[in-house]
Amino acid sequence: METKEAEVMDQETAEEEEIDLAPVHEILDNFPSKSRRYMIPMLQKIQGVYRYLPDKAVRLLMEALEVTRAEVYGVISFYPQLLTTEPGKYIIKLCFGTACFVKGANIIEDKIHEHYHIRPGGTDETKLFTLQTASCLGNCGAAPMALIGDDTHGTIDPEATLELLGAYKLEDESEEQAEETTSE
Ligand code: FES
Repeated sequence: METKEAEVMDQETAEEEEIDLAPVHEILDNFPSKSRRYMIPMLQKIQGVYRYLPDKAVRLLMEALEVTRAEVYGVISFYPQLLTTEPGKYIIKLCFGTACFVKGANIIEDKIHEHYHIRPGGTDETKLFTLQTASCLGNCGAAPMALIGDDTHGTIDPEATLELLGAYKLEDESEEQAEETTSE
């Protein structure tokens, strides 16, 4: 698994492209004060705009809250749901809570790795899937559970998971084809 620090460095090199920082200013201005106690909700809102936390946006937050880089990245690395690199189109949250784990969540993880070469925290090379683990998703009766994008899937097994992911892949391909046809 790539560490968040390494991800940040990758991202800094990749992130020479311009991003529109206006939404970050708007988010920061909409909090009652520039207090560090709002750091997490601010980060969540910034991620809501970009799907991850671009370093340039994080730097603005650091200046506004007068916090160091170590402080803010310390917080980011503590919360796996805060992302320092752009995730794939679909985030797979594989439940690693006790019920799901005893029913083989780790075997599902291995299967995903075998086919998509990703471990938790990673994104496949086509940028379609990002794999994360989650603690109990709240439906242990249907263990093992996973969220794929906004969809919940229960009583999955390694083969069923691959079939599901294959269906998302197909859907993505047909969306791309439809876009190409409309732009022609
Ligand atoms: S442990 Fe996975 S849903 Fe509860």
